[in-house]
Formats: sequence, structure tokens, C-alpha cells
Amino acid sequence: MAEKPLPIDPAIIRRIADEYPTPFHLYDERGIRSNAHRLNVAFRWCESFREYFAVKATPNPHILAILKEEGCGADCSSYAELVLSERVGLVGEHVMFTSNDTPAKEYAEAKRRGAIINLDDITHVEYLERHVGLPELVCFRYNPGPLREGNVIIGKPEDAKYGLTRAQLFEGYRALKKKGVKRFGLHTMVASNELNPQFFVETAKMLFELAVEIAAKVDVRLEFVNLGGGIGIPYRPGQKAIDYGEISDGVKAAYEAMIRPAGLHPLAICMENGRCMTGPYGVLVTRAIHKKDIYKKYVGVDACMANLMRPGMYGAYHHITVIGKEDAPATTTVDVVGSLCENNDKFAIDRKLPPIESGDLLAIHDAGAHGHSMGFQYNGKPRSAELLLREDGSVKLIRRAETLDDLFATLDFAEFK
Ligand SMILES: Cc1ncc(COP(=O)(O)O)c(C=O)c1O
Repeated sequence: MAEKPLPIDPAIIRRIADEYPTPFHLYDERGIRSNAHRLNVAFRWCESFREYFAVKATPNPHILAILKEEGCGADCSSYAELVLSERVGLVGEHVMFTSNDTPAKEYAEAKRRGAIINLDDITHVEYLERHVGLPELVCFRYNPGPLREGNVIIGKPEDAKYGLTRAQLFEGYRALKKKGVKRFGLHTMVASNELNPQFFVETAKMLFELAVEIAAKVDVRLEFVNLGGGIGIPYRPGQKAIDYGEISDGVKAAYEAMIRPAGLHPLAICMENGRCMTGPYGVLVTRAIHKKDIYKKYVGVDACMANLMRPGMYGAYHHITVIGKEDAPATTTVDVVGSLCENNDKFAIDRKLPPIESGDLLAIHDAGAHGHSMGFQYNGKPRSAELLLREDGSVKLIRRAETLDDLFATLDFAEFK
């Protein structure tokens, strides 16, 4: 038995790799749908619960369309993400615009689409008013600073550039009210890849407490609180997937204890997860092309950090399954590397794997979020294709691989013919 099962049958991966050149990202529609369904069912007690999928995690319209069908909205952080969402029919308050250091043009595009604008700073009240005009509904992003710990990926809130301080929140809502804003929201994002359900319950409590205090001190009644994204996934064998029911039960208990008695019911609850929505349901499929034995042993594959930069960027663990050798003993210790001229272009370091031969297919797990989307073109590496394994077993090319023409599209070769 493989120690961490793939989301897609290895035989299917092999069949797809016979048809499409590696490397490619492959997503599993069934897994994405059933996970989104599980999250929505867990929060069914909250009538207006909405998960705004963090588009940055997997910015592909086919993925957004699936999540839209499952009742999700879109969390956008840029103009491009707003346009992508609009193309699949996600507009108006189905879109949350959570950006930072935002140019006026992007606020204007968000407002034009009726998106919920989430302000990252108190000065943005005046900036938005001056450049775009204030919408009817405005949200603030709260940074609790020393009051919360954060974690390794997202860092300490105190050191993070995002959001308003506690004092600024009160000042901000007062200012908005004075300027005629009628509807209000509150957002925070203090976790990333967090596997402890209690963390999200604590976040809800923090926001509920603020909702009560804001109502009392500023006479502003919040319409929703957004707990942010950050639900983690079990990247490592042996880690346990988070139980959405545990988060939901804790949030519900806090809601009943804090929001109802304060007379603030109904208060909508939303989240903007990316990783847990698509991460486990995507794999990066690559082929071994070289073996090298110097001071250490290496396996060189045809994907590189441009296809998945998480391991190189922050030493993130991504499990690797050698297709056809799922149950073979892991008797060799290797670094699995790509071809970039950067020594951190490694998918795994000192990883115990079954002996790998040139031509073997490797599936790199949990690449469905913050995978292809973080890609880049350094060393002239074109970004790979994205494929979707449909529920009916068919395979759809949902993004073709880039070509040299794509890489060179912005260059002017006129003088060099
Ligand atoms: C503002 C904001 N919301 C949501 C997310 C999604 O986070 P995750 O994919 O960890 O759920 C991110 C991730 O960078 C973010 O910056």
C-alpha cells in the first residue's frame, strides 16, 4: 500500500501521459466538487455562508466554473483575476476583491463589477473615494498584530504588510459611516496551510468579538465576517486532512454564544480558501530524464521550479509517487531536480524513493493550488499544460502548454531577422 495515495488512479495518469507530453498539471474534477460540497454542507447552519475561492491558487476558468457550480464565489486580488471570474459569470457580490497596495484602476474595475471591496489600509478610504467613489458596501481587512501568532508560511501578523490595526478599524468604520457608506464587512487572513481546526474557531471568535464591539462603539452593524483562507492540507504522509465539521461546529458555538446574545444575528460568515479547495486534487506529472551520481545522487526530471516553485521557494514538502512503483520499497535516497540554473530547483531533497530509471513517470502530489499559478519563465522555460480529468473519465486540455512563440511574444525581433 502506497503511504500517501494519489487522488487519481496511477493507471489513468500513465494513460494520460501516453497522450500528452510531460510535464503537465492534472486536476481531478470529482475531488474538487466533492470537497467543495463537504465544506458547504459543514456550514449549512449558516444560511449565507459563502466560500470565495482564492483565484490566485488556480486561476483557470474551467476550475472556477466547477467551483461556481458548487456554490463558491471568487476571491480576487488583481484586475486579471476579476476578468477571469467575470468570464465565468462571477460578478457582483459573488466576488470579494481582497488586494493590497491597490492601484486606483483596479479598484475601479472591482467597483464596476459590483465586487465587494476589501480595503487593506485606512488611507484607502480616502483614496477610493477620491479616485473611484465609495461603494454602498465596504469591508476592512484586519491585522491583529501581536494578538495572533500566524504561522511559517504567512509569517507573524505583526511583520505582515496587510490590513488595519485594531484602533484603525474603529476609526475606519466611523469615517465610512460619515461618508454615507451603508453596508459593512470585516475580514482577516492570519493563517496559511493551517491544519488545526481550532485556529479558525479562534479567528471567528476574534472577529465576532470585534463585531460586537464595533456595533457598541461605532454603531456599525456588520453584514458579514470573512475568516480568510488558510485551511491546510496534509502534504506529508501521516498528516490528517482537516475536518470542516470541526471548524464549523466551533464557529457555530461561538456564534450562538457571542453574536445572537448581542442581537447581531444574522451575520453572514465567509471564507476565501484556495489551497484546500484544489490543492490535493491536482498533481504535477513529470518524467525522469537523467540520473546523476556525484557527491549526492540526483534524478533530473522534465519539470522544474517554474512548474511548481513551493519546494524551492520555502522548502515545502510535496510527496512524490513513482508511477508503476507505488508499492516498491524506497531503497534509494535522491534529490529530485529540475533543469533551472538555480540550485534550489529541487522538488525533493534526500528523499527515499524506489530506484528510478530514465523514462519513469513521477507524480508530484498536492500541486493543485499555488502550483501552476506561481509559474514563471526564468531560463526560458515555457509553462506547462493544465489538464482536467472529468467526472465521466474524459480528459480536457484546459490550458495548452506555452510555446517559444509565447515566450517571445513581447520581444521585438524586427532588427534581427
Ligand atoms: C488574501 C488572501 N486570501 C486567501 C488566500 C488563500 O490562501 P490559501 O490558499 O492558503 O487558502 C490567500 C493566499 O495567498 C490570500 O493572500
